[in-house]
Amino acid sequence: MAAEFDTLAEWTAQVATDLGSSFKIPAACRGSGSLAVLDWLIDELHLSHGGSLLDCGAGMGGPAAYAVRQRSVRPLLVEPERGACRAARSLFGHPVVRASALALPVGDDSFDAAWSLGVLCTVPDQLALLTELRRVVRPTGRIGLLVFVARSSEPFPHPDGNHFPTEARLLSLVEKAGLGIEDWRGTEEMAGPTPEWQSRVEKVTAELADRHRGQRAWQLAERQSQLIGQLLADSTVTGELLTLRRR
Ligand SMILES: C[S@@+](CC[C@H](N)C(=O)[O-])C[C@H]1O[C@@H](n2cnc3c(N)ncnc32)[C@H](O)[C@@H]1O
Repeated sequence: MAAEFDTLAEWTAQVATDLGSSFKIPAACRGSGSLAVLDWLIDELHLSHGGSLLDCGAGMGGPAAYAVRQRSVRPLLVEPERGACRAARSLFGHPVVRASALALPVGDDSFDAAWSLGVLCTVPDQLALLTELRRVVRPTGRIGLLVFVARSSEPFPHPDGNHFPTEARLLSLVEKAGLGIEDWRGTEEMAGPTPEWQSRVEKVTAELADRHRGQRAWQLAERQSQLIGQLLADSTVTGELLTLRRR
């Protein structure tokens, strides 16, 4: 996990900076692979100009930067990996705090909205993550999640550090956290990346491979990403978007 979200993040930021500013957001969106997903969340969370948004497990900060571009939100990025924090700061300059979702370093009821994209399944204590999100968002605010869900409870080969909940488990976690589901959408129903976005992602990926394929961190991250790609391709795991509110 550290290879993917720490070392590789700094390498990715360097590549995106070298390629030019139009590469930064596509390079820095690691969980949410398409703008249709982010546009849906931005609408469903009612993000408004000047509103505050907590991005929990923000990675390199691409999704938050896109939300700033679309709605001029005021983001705070929370991310535990040092390399990803540095990458997010250097790419976009938004405020970043190095911390875990399990103990968010912010006060109760302090954000208009929060999202956590592709993070829940990387965290063993998933109830703690949801409980923390509930704590920090104002009572009327909304929480957005992108979760990779296991379609069956049968065991399957997991990429290191991933804990994909089943749908039943996710529903039970949401309930236990005192949250209610406002909307739920499968990412498969949404438009995929545009050709322009896809070509930028591919250019970044190819450049990263050219620069770093001999290094262990690149090889580990590549193996991880291929395994997740395979699980999604054969629908062992699916991407699910949820919007939540306090019950
Ligand atoms: C698949 S990436 C998604 C990054 C970003 N949300 C995006 O969509 O581009 C998962 C992120 O979760 C972060 N993460 C892992 N454990 C975490 C924790 N306990 N608290 C917060 N973030 C965590 C990882 O460091 C990584 O940046």
